[in-house]
Amino acid sequence: MDYTVTEQNTAAPADEPRRQQFFIEKCRMYTEDFRIRQGRAPSANIRTFGCQMNERDSEKLRGILVCAGYEITDREDADLVIYNTCTVRENANLKVYGRLGYLNGLKKKNPHMRIVLCGCMMQEKEVVNKIRKSYPFVDLIFGTHNIWQFAELLFRMQESREMLVELWDSTDKVVEELPAQRTYSFKSGVNIMYGCNNFCTYCIVPYVRGRERSREPKDILREVEQLAADGVAEIMLLGQNVNSYGKTLEHPVSFAQLLQEVEKVEGIQRIRFMTSHPKDLSDELIEVMAGSEKICPHLHLPLQSGSSRLLGKMNRHYTKEGYIALCEKLRSRIPDLSLTTDIIVGFPGETEEDFLETLDVVRTVRYDSAFTFIYSKRTGTPAAQYPDQVPEEIVKDRFDRLLALVQETGREQISRFEGQTQPVLVEHVNTQDASLVTGRLANNLIVHFPGDASLIGQIVPVTLTECKGFYFMGERKIG
Ligand code: 5AD
Ligand code: SF4
Repeated sequence: MDYTVTEQNTAAPADEPRRQQFFIEKCRMYTEDFRIRQGRAPSANIRTFGCQMNERDSEKLRGILVCAGYEITDREDADLVIYNTCTVRENANLKVYGRLGYLNGLKKKNPHMRIVLCGCMMQEKEVVNKIRKSYPFVDLIFGTHNIWQFAELLFRMQESREMLVELWDSTDKVVEELPAQRTYSFKSGVNIMYGCNNFCTYCIVPYVRGRERSREPKDILREVEQLAADGVAEIMLLGQNVNSYGKTLEHPVSFAQLLQEVEKVEGIQRIRFMTSHPKDLSDELIEVMAGSEKICPHLHLPLQSGSSRLLGKMNRHYTKEGYIALCEKLRSRIPDLSLTTDIIVGFPGETEEDFLETLDVVRTVRYDSAFTFIYSKRTGTPAAQYPDQVPEEIVKDRFDRLLALVQETGREQISRFEGQTQPVLVEHVNTQDASLVTGRLANNLIVHFPGDASLIGQIVPVTLTECKGFYFMGERKIG
């Protein structure tokens, strides 16, 4: 799309995405003016907290900034600093508050500097009240529902000296066709749906990301085709619960049907998706995965707890036995499947017996890897009101025991690949040792092997010589 042709003297159009394109042009006039006065383009730095959804959102913010004439930088003392925040656990919030004090120091030294906060944390009223009161040097706040308004808000922020706060409580809107600037040339996330309707009792996501909204298949396919034309080899379909994709569309489509359509796009070599809720994982999806050349043999299937009693209290709609049976079915239909998971320790009322059930599932399922979290009380969620919060020392002890088991079973599980030669998509030069490159197997495992930057974006055969726990060392197989 050409962003240089909008006429500037007309009023802002009411329809999207034309309205945002209009404001990108307006911002461009601002950056041109900055360039003339300062002899350089204004710089912008985006810092992303949290999940792949936020990473993808940041690519969209970056796309708008680049079109508007900003120069993207890693420097934290940039002219525009954006924090795309997460609030899934309290730690994420504390990190942002900690950084804000530091940013204020930088802002005092750079008179051009503007500070923007967006993302999930901003959808919480208490957070925004606190920022208004204690961090008045912030220039712009917006949330997850109106992220597509960024160009317009950026322009309004440039025009004003007051803190600008624009937050929506909810939305049913999906705005298509805004630019994105990808972090990697060879892989990309693709949003297929937004929001979550599950209301797991510990989770704040449904409150900050709103109700489930699926994108139309034709819009998703057009985006994937465009990515393929740009040379992207791997895509990750993104949603809080991809297994319920399409249910609310005017013409409902299942996630498995969408995958089959995406698979037909020439040029795309690997398809991943995230995240699957066990309660909605259909036989149709298992069959499509089993029969697919491109869908990666990896499933991230959050367990959260192995205790059926706690799963009930978490509002997860499955039992320990049901979950294990599902994993067995998956493994029998997709033999090389790698399973990974999320587990929470210390959910209110968790007893030693409940916790032992979780350890039992870890032993039975044998995950390739697992993300383990200490339960974090999120204001506004039902579980925050539960009376029987577990004491910190007990939680810490359980967390350490779980981590040790996850590491042990993960290493054993992963070492089954040792000695095999597998295709690896090379992602970057190794950050510790520049004689190595780092890439990913189809099952999402990481491997480091000797190579140079010319391999980035290529899929090459690599022999997995040594299992190091959650990752491999390897050798490229030539010929
Ligand atoms: N406390 C701890 N972990 C949480 N998660 C979500 N909410 C909380 C919470 N309040 C974890 C879940 C989810 C992952 C993205 O974050 O395991 O799958
Ligand atoms: Fe949170 Fe549950 Fe929705 Fe995942 S499925 S985002 S854990 S409410």
